[in-house]
Amino acid sequence: MSRLEPFADGVWICDGPRVRMMTIPFETRMTVVALESGSLWVHSPFQPTPGLQADVDALGTVGFIVAPNKIHSLGVGPWKERYPSAEVWVSPRFRERHPRAPVDHVMGTEAPAAWNGQIELLCFGGSRFFDEVVFYHGASRTLILTDLIQRHDPAGESPFWRFVKRKVGVLGPSGGTARDLRSTFRDLAAARASAEALLRWDFDRVVIAHGTCITEDARRTVEQAFDWALG
Ligand SMILES: [Fe+2]
Repeated sequence: MSRLEPFADGVWICDGPRVRMMTIPFETRMTVVALESGSLWVHSPFQPTPGLQADVDALGTVGFIVAPNKIHSLGVGPWKERYPSAEVWVSPRFRERHPRAPVDHVMGTEAPAAWNGQIELLCFGGSRFFDEVVFYHGASRTLILTDLIQRHDPAGESPFWRFVKRKVGVLGPSGGTARDLRSTFRDLAAARASAEALLRWDFDRVVIAHGTCITEDARRTVEQAFDWALG
């Protein structure tokens, strides 16, 4: 059973179950940030387990449950059920796909005041389909992404899936934005503006939801991953 592990000062990650989306196997990861108030910010959670909940409870009180895009919805209901006083914040188009989810707020252009400037956000623009909100935790210089950059671990993959994931552009250290996802970005000027804005944050490590996180040469790795948008 996966447990929380430290990733940076005030930031923890937990590797979750392997899931399949459109038959493709995905590793999953959620992130927890401790705000200075002691409130916990829980990003893209999967189904809680007793061990994970114990780890989270030992850190503080869950204050915010964040669904960063309309695809990552799995844990929103179960976490809200266990932590009913936590606020659920979702991406702009989340409700279209999950009309019955227990949503409290939809994220917009600015981070909620309750995050006290400790976590900033940006809605990555330009896609006719995809609506990911990306985050920056300044105290630890950590960028928090979900699906926009994927670096699936080749170890443990079958030769077939290694082949497919390499073709799609999400395998290992040279992974980036999946080709099928890229194709939904029709407004490349908007995507470029978002990638440039994201690169203005002073980060040196990146959490991603699928694959190996980026802890070395982070800026150059992110620039390369967004070369399709940056031109
Ligand atoms: Fe995902």
